[in-house]
Amino acid sequence: MKNLISLSDLPDDNLHALVSDALHHAAGAGEPSLHGRIVGTYFRATSTRTRTAFTAGALRLGAQVIAFGPEDMQLVTGESTRDTGRVLSGMIDALVARTTGSTEELLDFAAQGRMPVINAMSAGEHPTQALADLTTLHERFGQLEDLSVLYVGEGNSTAAALALALSRYRGVHLQFRTPPGYGLPAEYSRQANANATRSGATVIERHDMADLPKDFDAIYTTRWQTTGTSKPDPNWRTVFAPFQVSSALWEGSPKAVFLHDLPAHRGEEVSAEVLDGPASLAFRQAEHKMHSAMAVLRWCLG
Ligand code: CP
Repeated sequence: MKNLISLSDLPDDNLHALVSDALHHAAGAGEPSLHGRIVGTYFRATSTRTRTAFTAGALRLGAQVIAFGPEDMQLVTGESTRDTGRVLSGMIDALVARTTGSTEELLDFAAQGRMPVINAMSAGEHPTQALADLTTLHERFGQLEDLSVLYVGEGNSTAAALALALSRYRGVHLQFRTPPGYGLPAEYSRQANANATRSGATVIERHDMADLPKDFDAIYTTRWQTTGTSKPDPNWRTVFAPFQVSSALWEGSPKAVFLHDLPAHRGEEVSAEVLDGPASLAFRQAEHKMHSAMAVLRWCLG
């Protein structure tokens, strides 16, 4: 059974194949191949892109979809996640789940062993976002090897997944500039550095915006208020303010493309000039959420 719960469990050749298949769907070349299959979607937190990507992607592949909202299942009356997964596995073929908790909860859904479970964003990691990000970069640059990517903003689930994914590619330089106290979780940082040692990539994290290298191929930022999270420090905006992405960053990297996982808040993490400007691939990146969702569904259900 193929789950996609954490990218750390995904072998390199599977990651490369998923990006390749996503590009195939982006080019309109995919055939409906999931006729007769039923995909469940369970989103306990809000979602525009990921939920629509998996729903539309499944329908385009010929599958049917059952959508469970946050209050729909007996989980809210105390039925266990393991029992829920076991029951669902007798009726549907895959479950796409966005929780606000740890990946342990997704592993409990997957404990039944016959229905693949796909992580549509958990507290720690957003693996299908990283697949859309890699698809966007590959489409633009024709390869992922040797790219130089600057990520500015919180070390959230999007950042963690990007670190786990891009660190697999030879020659990649991935530079994180995260606000102090809001960096990558240590375990993701450790895994990304281990990947980088193996692949010949470099992963660097600093907590300031000084001494930035030049000529990045891509500059990436993310919302300051990640879905399903809150910041106990009432002064967090002061900490984040130096990390706003504005056109000044393009002085050192004039050819860089701009990526954003969306939703965006113009005037917070990014200026409107950048998000809506010529370097921005953010909305193409959002389209690739569906192409990568199709690739994941085909991989899990193939
Ligand atoms: N980027 C992303 O995951 O968007 P949604 O929260 O709208 O799914």
